[in-house]
Amino acid sequence: MEDRFITSTKNWTDAEIETSLRPTSLDQYVGQDKVKESLRVYIQAAKSRKDALDHVLLYGPPGLGKTTLSHIIAKELGSQIKITSGPAIEHAADLAAILTNLNKNDVLFIDEIHRLNKTVEEILYPAMEDFALDFIVGKGPSAKNMRLKIQPFTLIGATTKAGMLTSPLRDRFGVICRLELYSDKDLQVIIERSANILNINIDSSASLDIARRSRGTPRIANRLLKRVRDYAEVLGSGEITKEIADQALAKMEIDELGLDFIDRKILESIIYKFGGGPVGLDTLSATIGEDSGTIEDVYEPYLLQLGFIARTPRGRVVLENAYKHLGLEVPSQNKKN
Ligand SMILES: Nc1ncnc2c1ncn2[C@@H]1O[C@H](COP(=O)(O)OP(=O)(O)OP(=O)(O)O)[C@@H](O)[C@H]1O
Ligand SMILES: [Mg+2]
Repeated sequence: MEDRFITSTKNWTDAEIETSLRPTSLDQYVGQDKVKESLRVYIQAAKSRKDALDHVLLYGPPGLGKTTLSHIIAKELGSQIKITSGPAIEHAADLAAILTNLNKNDVLFIDEIHRLNKTVEEILYPAMEDFALDFIVGKGPSAKNMRLKIQPFTLIGATTKAGMLTSPLRDRFGVICRLELYSDKDLQVIIERSANILNINIDSSASLDIARRSRGTPRIANRLLKRVRDYAEVLGSGEITKEIADQALAKMEIDELGLDFIDRKILESIIYKFGGGPVGLDTLSATIGEDSGTIEDVYEPYLLQLGFIARTPRGRVVLENAYKHLGLEVPSQNKKN
């Protein structure tokens, strides 16, 4: 599974270049117009009041630019960013130490914030709401509640699973942004921007071709660009033409919509083993031997966006478009009207 090209989760080959390709201002950040527009207003307002920006929750599937956007927000605010993640903070005291060390209006970025443990999370409530830490000193009848003020700060939480956030935590975010899968046009802009940074020559028809197969995800777009460049260097002059892009993508077994063998396995299992569905997520997961969380976060968003599957109260069903894409006959009960 690790060597799947088009998984949207980060792998080691991404790390080296992701930093160089990461946009560093809102202007460079392609797409997500609604999110950018509201952030611009809030950032401007916070700056002119010299206040900390309200806490921001960014959620959406992997590789859509949550980490990137967090860095940009800090930069646009002119603030320092301190980075940590839910699983990295084991004890309440670790978080208390981080919070007391923040300077005025700093940004604290907590990745995978849905994975904070309960006792750690409870430290966050007064910190987010009143910029204070509450703790108990002493034991028994003489125990006292103490409150320690900390500097105003902005918490940016990122998660692929907004549904797993507890409501007290979720309610403390003033700004909640959902990142959407990118359009082909936006991905094309991202690919051309990256090609430019990496000194790659690419035709606009080739960049659109790669964009179409990137599953709405910038991380995948950048990864495919790099792989196609390797082919272009071996097969041709290094320039990426449509022909080279097509050949390279075909070798990677990625079809014209960006689906690979796992997507096809998901669709085919539902079709052949469960009569097109509905089938529950756990049953599907056991059948294809893939973690249910991964199916839900990584594969399904794109299949849903394509209108290939639907989530119903009784489980997942395959829709007409998917049958057509796989070259199968559409069962009569699936036909629209
Ligand atoms: N809007 C964008 N414009 C240009 N490039 C982008 C954009 N969003 C993301 N990218 C590119 O995609 C890469 C992955 O983005 P990022 O690491 O921010 O995703 P993420 O949402 O934090 O993923 P994860 O959920 O795995 O942490 C970045 O290195 C960047 O190069
Ligand atoms: Mg991230």
